[in-house]
Amino acid sequence: MAGDNSAATATAAAQTMRQRPAATPAPGNPRAVPLTGLAAQYFTDPAVFARARERIFFRAWQFACHASQTPAPGDYFAFSVCGESLFVMRGRDRKLRAFYNVCRHRGHPLVEDGSGKRATVVCPYHAWSYELDGRLRAAPNANRVAGFDKRDIRLREVKLEEFLGFVFVNLDEQAKPMDDCYPGVREAALALCPDIEARALAHAFSAREPCNWLVAVENYNECYHCPTAHRSFAEGIIDPNSYNIAPFGDERGGRCLRHESKATKSARAWYDVSGSDYGSFYLWPAFSLQVYPGRVVNSYHWRPLQVDATEVHRAWYSADGAVDDKLQTVIDLDRDTTFAEDLKLVSGVQRGIASRGFVPGPLMVDPNGGIGNELSIAALHGWLREAVDAVDDSPAV
Ligand code: FES
Ligand SMILES: [Fe+2]
Repeated sequence: MAGDNSAATATAAAQTMRQRPAATPAPGNPRAVPLTGLAAQYFTDPAVFARARERIFFRAWQFACHASQTPAPGDYFAFSVCGESLFVMRGRDRKLRAFYNVCRHRGHPLVEDGSGKRATVVCPYHAWSYELDGRLRAAPNANRVAGFDKRDIRLREVKLEEFLGFVFVNLDEQAKPMDDCYPGVREAALALCPDIEARALAHAFSAREPCNWLVAVENYNECYHCPTAHRSFAEGIIDPNSYNIAPFGDERGGRCLRHESKATKSARAWYDVSGSDYGSFYLWPAFSLQVYPGRVVNSYHWRPLQVDATEVHRAWYSADGAVDDKLQTVIDLDRDTTFAEDLKLVSGVQRGIASRGFVPGPLMVDPNGGIGNELSIAALHGWLREAVDAVDDSPAV
């Protein structure tokens, strides 16, 4: 892969920052040069995308849906992660389980993408039916097949965790629990928004972004562009002078970027922002839990479609799942300013990176942190390269 400052350097920088968030530069290093961004092929090469799919998306925790979307037995939500069709379903025992959306007979999908409800899961091809916990219930003509025992057959299950009310799945059977992958996040999110686990989905929408998933994720994880490109957000939600994004974790590591800011003090605040500061927890690789001031809970998640196409999902959560006037104001302003502005930015960046004229430039890694800092980008680049540059197939998420 084309040379730039190494992933190890970026990761070391991230680790240093995790231990000392306001680190000062090493004094008197005459050879110090800025870290540079990644070469174009990390964002444009289908082979890199294929490696990211296998080594990142099929090994890290992926957001499925909010628990409030499947409240009762038989409720399900189906979705895809990098082409793998999955669904989560609540059993009669009220437990949520996740399954590959693949019939154990000859492989037909069992449910369509999106939400639904079933008393049993019946395959539309030959009508094999499954219990809500994945056990095979019946298969037409099975009693005439010697040795057929339905007790031997159940849907293939994948790991599932509920984390602060959000449902995640992991295709890696050896995956560590989310509290080990993102240490400290649960506690910090609860400190910022104590009732977060009682929220319900209130509004959601999505859009297709013509860019690589990491272009979208990078854009989300730096606010260097906020004063220029998100003037409404920079005045209406945050206090730019107190804004910071840094790797977050403890001695266990962790692949989280925490965004922090005081609530805006501007007369252009979008709404009454009293009640809490701003905070966001980006969980590598493709989900972010965000709390706008006043405990307005929202999320982003990204679904990679192909090397230069990504689906971005935006969602909002309230105590009762309703959208009151205040929440409607935030949803509308956010969609029409920040969300729309970012869509343009990431589309432009992908075109630029794909140009023959593109040369990766220096990252604004500022040891003092602050809104103009791009240490978070260096951390993302390190995490990506650890996975896609590895020569063997060892776990690296
Ligand atoms: S493929 Fe599902 S019943 Fe045949
Ligand atoms: Fe942005």
